[in-house]
Amino acid sequence: MLGRVALAVVVTAVIAWQLGVYNWEDMSALVSQKLNKVLGHSLEPGRHRTSGGKEGIPPSRAKQPLRLLSKEELAQYDGNEGSKGLYLAVFGQVFDVKKGARHYGPGGGYEFFAGRDATRAYVTGEFNEEGLKDDVEGLSPQQMLEVETWVDFYKKEYTPVGKLVGRYYDATGAPTDALKKALLVVEVGKKEKDKEAELNRRYPPCNSSWNQKEGTKIWCSDKSGGVVREWTGVPRRYFIPGSNNWRCVCVHDRDLNNPHMKPFDGCGPRDVACNVDKK
Ligand code: HEM
Repeated sequence: MLGRVALAVVVTAVIAWQLGVYNWEDMSALVSQKLNKVLGHSLEPGRHRTSGGKEGIPPSRAKQPLRLLSKEELAQYDGNEGSKGLYLAVFGQVFDVKKGARHYGPGGGYEFFAGRDATRAYVTGEFNEEGLKDDVEGLSPQQMLEVETWVDFYKKEYTPVGKLVGRYYDATGAPTDALKKALLVVEVGKKEKDKEAELNRRYPPCNSSWNQKEGTKIWCSDKSGGVVREWTGVPRRYFIPGSNNWRCVCVHDRDLNNPHMKPFDGCGPRDVACNVDKK
């Protein structure tokens, strides 16, 4: 088992390293740390399935053996009359959602999530048979991050039941390569989100308003874009690298020479506010 885990860590590390997202040294720690957090247990599935008493098995875990469900078993928990209960799964993690029966039970707005793993639909909103599936292939890092937010939501609001054997957990309850790959994309999403937040702090969005007489007015303030700061900046069009789109941002003196920043027509170089489409 350890050999397989080590191999998986190396394989996932290579993928991420090739993506240029992480450095090599961070990867091994990152993958196991990430898995431990998301799965809530050690990488070795055998450990938490034993009845306890062995070195290294926390007693609280030992009392709660991992329950493994097949797709067919999970389907018996769709909340319909005669069913065994009301469960759903996201990323292969099964939750008892009985207390949310008004959402997931028969007639509820989200009844289609019950008794299955429809991970993909949580971010695509495709609530039909085609869309209600566990395959997340092709989702963007941001969408994968959203999926993780749903997992966190269910962990917080509902009772974990166990793991669904299939795409994300194998028959021993060990995470599959598909899950490890998915979690790496989640990590990429986190990096992107952090980068975006940093960009927002450095180039906060402008304020803008429109009225018929004056047209569009743009201006900077020391809290425009919700970024409270000690400087105000001047409005510039920020051309997002790699795309033809731009957005209005407030630029500090130190960044005025940034080649991605272009002044607005009709705005003086140091104007803090101006009308950009005044006739
Ligand atoms: C990808 C799209 C969407 C997904 C996957 C989604 C999923 C969900 C889920 C799973 C719940 C139940 C949460 C719980 O267990 O407490 C929920 C509740 C809710 N959703 Fe959505 N939703 C989506 C879009 C929307 C949209 C567009 C709206 C509104 C226009 C909306 C309005 C609501 C409301 C109001 C509730 C709470 C209902 C209540 O408390 O009775 N949802 N959503």
